[in-house]
Amino acid sequence: MWQALFLLLIGAAWAQQQSLPTKQLKLWLTISARKRFLEVSWQHAPAREGDHVLLTAQNPTNFERRVLPRGTPLAAFHSEEGSGAGEDQPAYVPVHGYTSTPSSVIRAVPSSNHQYWVSNGGSVEVVAAIKPSLAAQWFTTGVPFDYALSRNVTTHTDCYGYWASYIDDQGRILSKTCLRAYPRWMRDLRPVIGELRLRDLFIPGTHDSGSYRPNFDPLLRENLVTKYALTQDDNIRGQLLHGARYLDIRVGYYRPSEEKFFIYHGITKQRPLQEVIDQVKDFVLETNEIVIFGLKEFPVGFGKGLGVHRLLVSYLREQFGDLLVHPSLSWHATMNDMWKLQQNVILAYDKEEVVQDFPQLLFGGVEQRWGNVQTWMRLERHLRFINDFDVSRFSSRPVVDMAELTPETWDVILDKHGGLRKMADNINWRISQLYRDELGNHANIVAADFIRGTTLMDTALELNRRKPV
Ligand SMILES: *[C@@H]1O[C@H](CO)[C@@H](O)[C@H](O)[C@H]1NC(C)=O
Repeated sequence: MWQALFLLLIGAAWAQQQSLPTKQLKLWLTISARKRFLEVSWQHAPAREGDHVLLTAQNPTNFERRVLPRGTPLAAFHSEEGSGAGEDQPAYVPVHGYTSTPSSVIRAVPSSNHQYWVSNGGSVEVVAAIKPSLAAQWFTTGVPFDYALSRNVTTHTDCYGYWASYIDDQGRILSKTCLRAYPRWMRDLRPVIGELRLRDLFIPGTHDSGSYRPNFDPLLRENLVTKYALTQDDNIRGQLLHGARYLDIRVGYYRPSEEKFFIYHGITKQRPLQEVIDQVKDFVLETNEIVIFGLKEFPVGFGKGLGVHRLLVSYLREQFGDLLVHPSLSWHATMNDMWKLQQNVILAYDKEEVVQDFPQLLFGGVEQRWGNVQTWMRLERHLRFINDFDVSRFSSRPVVDMAELTPETWDVILDKHGGLRKMADNINWRISQLYRDELGNHANIVAADFIRGTTLMDTALELNRRKPV
């Protein structure tokens, strides 16, 4: 009996290995939350002597070695700033060899050997160089990302801003990646995902999507409130352009002002709801993508009755009009079902009595699986737990894994965790790895804080491309 089980397990492991694609070198570019530094990570790297990972601000087609007067301006590394550094979680040993021990970076500084790489005959400057020492690593460079670049992204943007190339000692590019937008990823995958339901896909989402502040610079203006209230760096349009298709919308009602509905994070007022709605509308009109507009919590001003809810639903109806996916389609609807009708926005309303009142407008809420935990160890346990033996897999209603840490009230008052940005930097690289390598196949929606620090979108493309119809 035990032997049979043992053989079965071996067999399963073997079968899994057989089906894996060959271990191809891959690179990713992300943006840290705290200092908005570019991060570069890779997997399956040969990590030979002489290999480099080079960051450029334009698309490099080739690299050549030069001998030099002075070193290229190199990334400044400090353990405080590394996403992966996490000195407060030394107990975590990464399964797949992710590390960003700063000591391994210091060796990367080639300023003493008077040689450096240039690209495209010298016309493209290398802005950071890293010497890979392991097959899989995640580094925070000292190169700041300017969110003005992100604001220039359109529904036609692909690569922009920065490129990372893995080169060998001859300057041959073994793998390359870029910072990019994914404005039409669902439509682009239509031949593959058209007959699938939202529940069948892997979908990146944002947590507290409306908690961003235009033109905010955390290095200049951070205070206790912004540290614990803001959760994203891109506005809603930016989040959608970069691939998020689930929005976590927490609306409050603020009677005194002319504009009544606002996004709230807890009790702090963020953006006007109108701004968020306009950005969603414009985006889907331009792209025909499908967006889940998840209304949750109603933290302020709704009272006990349903009066304010009714006001809100009428307002949403008036705003979105024909763009709303009709609830009669239900969660069984395939992507094509929605596209055929040109209905793009699902109002998933997390209050059952209200959904029953408006069966022509509202879908029921999408379940958010929130761990309410303060450490990576506990978050990882939560995420693994909800994805193992997951009965929701048999339902067509989407579920959201809430992949972020939540500070407790006193932690906020005492600033124990250093803010949501620092907390995001501690876990986003780990979430990226966990969903990419392990949980992605069965997971549905994953919502993160400061989503630009994750590779969830790359994982979505990778996994959704291979979905069995
Ligand atoms: C954004 O686009 C405008 C107009 O094309 C341009 O002037 C500006 O330099 C761009 N900003 C960045 C940061 O590239």
